[in-house]
Amino acid sequence: MHFDNHHIAITGASSGIGLETARMLAARGARVTLIARRSEKLEEAQAEIGANAAWAVADVGEREQLDAALDSAVEQNGAITGLFANAGLTGGFTPLLDYPGDLWEDTLKVNLSSVFWAIQKVLPAMVEAKKGSILVTGSMASKRGMAMNPAYVASKHGLLGLSRAVAMEMAPHGIRCNCVIPGFIETEALARIPEEQRGLIEKRVPQRRMGSVQELAEVAVFLLSDSASHVTGQDWAVDGGTLQTLEV
Ligand SMILES: NC(=O)c1ccc[n+]([C@@H]2O[C@H](COP(=O)([O-])OP(=O)(O)OC[C@H]3O[C@@H](n4cnc5c(N)ncnc54)[C@H](OP(=O)(O)O)[C@@H]3O)[C@@H](O)[C@H]2O)c1
Repeated sequence: MHFDNHHIAITGASSGIGLETARMLAARGARVTLIARRSEKLEEAQAEIGANAAWAVADVGEREQLDAALDSAVEQNGAITGLFANAGLTGGFTPLLDYPGDLWEDTLKVNLSSVFWAIQKVLPAMVEAKKGSILVTGSMASKRGMAMNPAYVASKHGLLGLSRAVAMEMAPHGIRCNCVIPGFIETEALARIPEEQRGLIEKRVPQRRMGSVQELAEVAVFLLSDSASHVTGQDWAVDGGTLQTLEV
């Protein structure tokens, strides 16, 4: 897998899955632009990754900020050949009847609308080039229900639907779109979970462990690469088998 002449823009690249995927893509020859809100984290990441990396700050839930960051990505690194729309919020766990309207709106904006906006922004250049690869980060909640977090479940189901719609409409233009589905992947948020609760999570995974960001990034990098040239409209779980069990 080589990414010479590829420029991949990655949202949610200041930590976790997005950052590890940026590292791996750059190590394999891609130019990458990292987008997120925390500038100090992005600066650190750029210093670590080196000359192949640029960064731009945006709250992706604000369309003007997202557009400006994607414009800046093009200015710094040239035309965008791949998009990894990965930024996402967990929403909040509240019973359905008390679920706050603003949390619903914010979660839908960051997890779903921002991905639609980013795709609309990068597509014209990809259509002109007759080539492009888009990957979005879903969740097991893209395929299963879950109590007490309706906005997260709805947004991640919507995201999978959006990726399929884009795949169908853009296939004749040489543009692919897929959805990677993390199971329980060790990121900062999961590292903060108390030991006892970790044990309960791990028991639900057929492999009896959480996944690493590297394991997730390997699949993300493949789906973004030309090696996946006949793969589109797919969802690929990196979950140690969890979605194959009856209950998530
Ligand atoms: N880890 C898992 O087990 C798991 C499971 C299911 C789904 N996911 C999905 O994986 C994706 C990445 O999450 P992660 O696990 O890598 O967690 P993470 O380390 O917390 O990363 C989340 C990233 O999203 C960015 N972000 C959040 N809100 C944003 C906003 N409004 N604007 C711009 N950037 C924003 C964060 O950057 P800033 O804070 O700097 O903005 C950060 O870079 C998310 O879509 C999440 O839903 C993860």
